[in-house]
Order: sequence, then structure tokens, then C-alpha cells
Amino acid sequence: MLFTRLLAASVVTAVSGVTVVPPSIWNYSYPWPVQYHSITSQQVNLSMAYMDVASTNTTSRNNNTIVLLHGRNFCGATWEDSARRLSAWGYRVVIPDQIGFCKSSKPPAYQFSLHQLAYNTQSLLQSLGIAKTKILGHSMGGMLGTRFALMYPNAASHLMLANPIGLEDWKSLGVPYRPIDLLYQDEQATTYTSIRNYQQATYYVNTWKPEYDVWVNMSLSLYQTPVENQVFMFDQARVVEAILTQPVVYEFPLVKARTLVLIGTKDNTAIGKGWSPPDVQKILGNYSVLGRQTADAIPGAALVEFEDLGHAPHIQDSERFHKALFSWLDKSDW
Ligand SMILES: *[C@@H]1O[C@H](CO)[C@@H](O)[C@H](O)[C@H]1NC(C)=O
Ligand SMILES: *[C@@H]1O[C@H](CO)[C@@H](O)[C@H](O)[C@H]1NC(C)=O
Ligand SMILES: *[C@@H]1O[C@H](CO)[C@@H](O)[C@H](O)[C@H]1NC(C)=O
Ligand SMILES: *[C@@H]1O[C@H](CO)[C@@H](O)[C@H](O)[C@H]1NC(C)=O
Ligand SMILES: *[C@@H]1O[C@H](CO)[C@@H](O)[C@H](O)[C@H]1NC(C)=O
Ligand SMILES: *[C@@H]1O[C@H](CO)[C@@H](O)[C@H](O)[C@H]1NC(C)=O
Repeated sequence: MLFTRLLAASVVTAVSGVTVVPPSIWNYSYPWPVQYHSITSQQVNLSMAYMDVASTNTTSRNNNTIVLLHGRNFCGATWEDSARRLSAWGYRVVIPDQIGFCKSSKPPAYQFSLHQLAYNTQSLLQSLGIAKTKILGHSMGGMLGTRFALMYPNAASHLMLANPIGLEDWKSLGVPYRPIDLLYQDEQATTYTSIRNYQQATYYVNTWKPEYDVWVNMSLSLYQTPVENQVFMFDQARVVEAILTQPVVYEFPLVKARTLVLIGTKDNTAIGKGWSPPDVQKILGNYSVLGRQTADAIPGAALVEFEDLGHAPHIQDSERFHKALFSWLDKSDW
């Protein structure tokens, strides 16, 4: 009952069978103006938030666009550092928040799939007149970027994957199915400590610096936004279920984009590890193996490994990460 009321409260208008879910009320401040792309999807009018950062380099002949896809625990704002560097180099940088995340609409009833999120992203790019782009995705954003490149091979010229998830098919390795209702309960148990402990162990190789707290606080504030937080958590539960059940790993050989795989090999992220039996847990998320496997599977892909970094190499060692990224971009900028 409570949940039904919360869902109803998040839907503002109902006109002739079409409902409208407005942009998020979440008020975290972003480094550039936030714009909204309107889409009608699954019978609901939704707003997809994005930042569109112009190149600040007046001498560059590079007239390329790059799209930055956030991970599940991050938002568009987390890309600030990368976006500043890319726009200084000459890129137009487009940074969406996916539907169900961050500043975008949080639909109470939505069939989340990686295909749907890729489709939404392509709809945004079309509305901006972007026919071809480079894609950089982190974590879930890497899995989504791969799906995007598979669905729209003519739209994605280059694909850069920073510790993407989806490098193995967790369910085939023994991760049990977890129903959305239990995943929703998991989301409701989220606290500052649970976010921080998770990020410390997977993102930062069991180290901690005060500046990492920015992203814990950002994530936590989504779990604390009045009313909308319940829908957010339900959306996230359905996103986790989609990630678990919709592997991209089998389709790596079909990727046409020029690809760079950037891997902090101390990463151990695996969807479902927490609810798997110990013998399954042991074999999941071995990024020192998965990065190489992925680069071998994607035709022509290059691999850069950071042997001391975890799941967020662009944050843990920004200088080193971006040096590797730009070095590859310079060589493959055609
Ligand atoms: C939903 O969006 C469509 C397409 O932009 C628009 O024609 C329609 O009026 C919108 N519906 C509502 C209820 O706002
Ligand atoms: C954002 O909303 C919270 C309540 O959810 C409020 O405490 C805070 O002052 C707001 N911040 C800004 C910048 O508006
Ligand atoms: C701007 O672009 C030029 C040409 O690509 C490059 O040499 C220069 O370093 C760039 N400036 C900055 C601040 O990155
Ligand atoms: C850069 O791209 C914009 C938008 O696509 C286009 O209008 C402009 O002519 C391009 N500039 C160069 C130098 O190619
Ligand atoms: C994160 O939030 C805590 C608790 O509200 C606050 O004390 C701390 O200063 C924040 N840290 C950062 C880096 O924003
Ligand atoms: C990852 O796999 C390699 C090669 O099989 C192995 O040597 C290493 O111990 C594994 N790492 C973990 C954390 O299981």
C-alpha cells in the first residue's frame, strides 16, 4: 500500500493513458548546465538529463564528439575530471544520466534493459544531431557502451571501456537468480557504510582518501531523496536484474568499433557475488584475467592494464588513466 502510494506520487500527470514522470527532484549540483531530452518510452513521457560540454580548445582541429556513460553507482557528474580534459583537448563531450538514475526521470513502472538504455541514449544523440561518436563507459556504462556499439555500429566509431562489467556471464558461472523483490530489499539496506565498504573493497584496493567520499555522499543522497528514493531503489533493483540476465560477453566478437579496454586489475566486481555460494564467489570478477580475455575477444582491441588499481582507475589515478586514454586516442583518431 505504502509502495503504491509512493509510486503514484512520482507520476505527475495522467492524460489519455499516457503518464508523465518528471525529471528527478534530486538537487545535487552538476559542473555544467543540465539539459533534458524528452522521450516517450513504454507509454510514459520521460526526461533524460544530460550535460553537453563544448570543446574549449580553439586551436584543435579535432571536431569529434565523445559520449561518457556512467556506472551504476555513479552519475554524469562523476565524469567532471575526464570531461574537462577531453573538452580541453578538443572534444564536444555529451554526458547523459540514464533513465532511472541521477537527474533523469525515475519511472515507477519500466522494463529496464541494456537495449532500452542504449536506445534511449541513441535517441538523445539523434536529438543533438550526433550521427557518429566515440564512447567511453565505466562499469555498467562499459557494458551499456558495448551494447550501444552492437546495436548502432555506424554510430559508435570508438569504444573505450574502463573496468566495464559484463566481461563474464555470472549466471553461467553459478550465480543464482535473485528476484527483483529481493534486489529491492538489498537496495533498501543501503547506508553510508555499505556504500563506502563496497567502494573501498572494489574501487580502491582497500585504501581510502577523503576525496573518495564525494562519490559516496553523492550516491547516498539518491537513497535519501524524499519519496523519489523508493522509486529509485526499485528502478535500481530492476537494473541489477537486467545486468544479471542480459550478458554482452558472447557478442564481443561482433563489436565493430575500434576498442580500448582499460583495466585496473585489482578490481573484483561481479554482479551477484554477494549472494553466491563461496565456491562461485571465488571464481568471479578476476579482472587480471577478464581484461585480457575481453581484448582478445573484441576484434583489434587494445588493452591497458593498471596493476595496482581497482574498479575506478580514472578516479584512483586520474593522471595515469588519462595519459593512457589520450595516448590511444591520439593514435587511433581517424
Ligand atoms: C507526451 O509526449 C508526447 C510527445 O512529445 C506529447 O505529444 C504528449 O502531449 C505528451 N503527453 C503528456 C501527457 O504530456
Ligand atoms: C537539496 O535537498 C536537500 C533535501 O533533500 C536539502 O537539505 C538541501 O539543502 C538541498 N540543497 C540544495 C543545494 O538545494
Ligand atoms: C588543443 O589542441 C591542440 C591541437 O590538437 C593541442 O596541441 C593542444 O595541446 C590542445 N590544448 C589543450 C589545452 O589540450
Ligand atoms: C564541427 O562540427 C560542427 C557540428 O557538426 C560543424 O558545424 C562544423 O562545421 C565542424 N567544424 C569543422 C572544422 O569540421
Ligand atoms: C560527506 O558527507 C559527510 C556526512 O554528511 C560529511 O561530513 C563529509 O564532509 C562529506 N564529504 C565530502 C567529501 O563531501
Ligand atoms: C586470477 O587468475 C589468475 C590466473 O588464473 C590467478 O593466478 C589468480 O590467483 C587469480 N586471482 C584471484 C584473485 O583469484
